[in-house]
Amino acid sequence: MPIAKATDDTIARAAALLRAGKLVAFPTETVYGLGADATNGQAVAQVFAAKGRPGFNPLIVHVLDLGGAGRHAVLTTLARRLIDAFWPGPLTLVLDKLPNCELSDLVTGGLDTLAVRAPDHPVARALLKEVGRPLAAPSANRSGHVSPTQAAHVAADLGDKVAMILDGGPTAYGLESTIIDARGDLPILLRPGAIAVETIAAVLGDEVVRAHVEDDARPSAPGQLASHYAPQAHVRLDVHHVRPGEALLAFGEPLPAAGGPVINLSPAGDLTEAAANLFAALRALDAAGATAIAVMPIPQDGLGEAINDRLRRAAAPR
Ligand code: TXA
Ligand code: MG
Repeated sequence: MPIAKATDDTIARAAALLRAGKLVAFPTETVYGLGADATNGQAVAQVFAAKGRPGFNPLIVHVLDLGGAGRHAVLTTLARRLIDAFWPGPLTLVLDKLPNCELSDLVTGGLDTLAVRAPDHPVARALLKEVGRPLAAPSANRSGHVSPTQAAHVAADLGDKVAMILDGGPTAYGLESTIIDARGDLPILLRPGAIAVETIAAVLGDEVVRAHVEDDARPSAPGQLASHYAPQAHVRLDVHHVRPGEALLAFGEPLPAAGGPVINLSPAGDLTEAAANLFAALRALDAAGATAIAVMPIPQDGLGEAINDRLRRAAAPR
């Protein structure tokens, strides 16, 4: 079992493994990432192999700060404002890639744009400092599975494919970063995530254009396929009456009657708490042997947009 509690010593070992071209899973404030040296094409190729990703979907590159991003991408005025307000933190920016930057072309899947973010987690930041290189890191799950919010989730999906899993405990947000295309004057939402769109709009004093589409045909963030965040069980949304044989994924109170296992994402009806619990709950219901999951309605405001996005993907036909 390659899980190692994150300490100065294990972080130093993890950094050495990364510099040697190996894969290391590490905690961020959103979900666990499957890290590789983003300047090493062979290491990045192993990420795709380990995840079993269809095609070479572009990966998010993790850096420490604005300076780190500026070495690889064109920082627009909009990007600088967003970085000022939200970095380090769960906001990923899609920017024009600098043509002669040191990143492997595989990281961007051949695109001339780059997705980049500065994570706000002490272990991720210590690791980035120690490695001294940008880290490509998709969520550390097998392709199509829900993202890991605990080290044990990573071990279950990728335990035999990584040199080390740095354990930093459960992640704070439990949802992936919000992705914004910041190449132009107006922010364009590519993926709802851990920072609510309303929060971004309020800080900018400007609208956020919602460009993300729900269908398979034209994924706006490449890799955002309709059926993506999928548990094993069949998922039914907006449920008021639980059917026999269904497990219940609840939100708030009171709960409808249910015969099977019940997990409440947030009895108090708190969307931040629900986001943090979502992926672990889906995994737990899978582990409990649920073949069908009924999900109570979840409001669409704030983080509800990202939660409902992930749940719709979990419920999509596959
Ligand atoms: O919170 C997160 O963002 C986590 C942690 C580990 O940082 N990472 C994560 O990575 O969710 P991943 O690979 O599972 O999702 C990255 C998303 C994909 O939907 C991908 O298509 C999109 O980012 N993406 C990457 N590069 C892009 C680009 N140049 N243009 C548009 N979308 C891009
Ligand atoms: Mg992912």
